[in-house]
Amino acid sequence: MTAIEVPTAAAMEGLGRRIGALLRAGDLVVLVGGLGAGKTTLTRGIGEALRVRGPITSPTFVLSRVHPPLTGDGPPLVHVDGYRLSGARELDDLDIDWDGSVAVVEWGEGLLDGVAAAWLRIAIDRPHGADAGPPVGADEPLEAPSDEEPVVPRIVSIEGFGARGAELAALLADGTRAPS
Ligand SMILES: Nc1ncnc2c1ncn2[C@@H]1O[C@H](COP(=O)(O)OP(=O)(O)OP(=O)(O)O)[C@@H](O)[C@H]1O
Ligand SMILES: [Mg+2]
Repeated sequence: MTAIEVPTAAAMEGLGRRIGALLRAGDLVVLVGGLGAGKTTLTRGIGEALRVRGPITSPTFVLSRVHPPLTGDGPPLVHVDGYRLSGARELDDLDIDWDGSVAVVEWGEGLLDGVAAAWLRIAIDRPHGADAGPPVGADEPLEAPSDEEPVVPRIVSIEGFGARGAELAALLADGTRAPS
């Protein structure tokens, strides 16, 4: 497993571009991490590398969204919000073209049993227990000045499952310096 410190949202998008450059039709990426961890930010970078039509946003009101390639060749990106899916059956009902697309599933863990043979698992953690969100305190304004999360480093752990997942994880481990 490779662990990388990702200091900013821009760096997270950059990591997504690096991952996206390796992906091809049939590949599956599972993103694990709490609310606001940076899953969609990473997916945006993947979409940039794949040169698909945006915008890539948290698929809050839909279960999945297909982003077609801008140039005509290359696979579409299917972005799935697993948070709202009750299980593998409901995922199956989405009729996703797994073989013909690059699929990114947020909150996908546990949903993919029986659906996929290989995937790249990317876990995003906020160190120092910040995953619970900012502490509620007297200093907190009642209304946040913006809906942006503060810039806090994330630890991204990359692990491959199945033959193709392992291949992708190894490619990403090459040239990635472990955090000191
Ligand atoms: N180091 C960082 N890496 C990624 N995002 C960061 C970082 N620091 C701050 N951020 C901010 O955190 C937020 C991450 O939001 P994002 O929508 O990508 O999370 P998410 O995991 O998809 O959340 P959700 O579970 O709600 O879908 C963004 O506002 C981004 O600017
Ligand atoms: Mg999201």
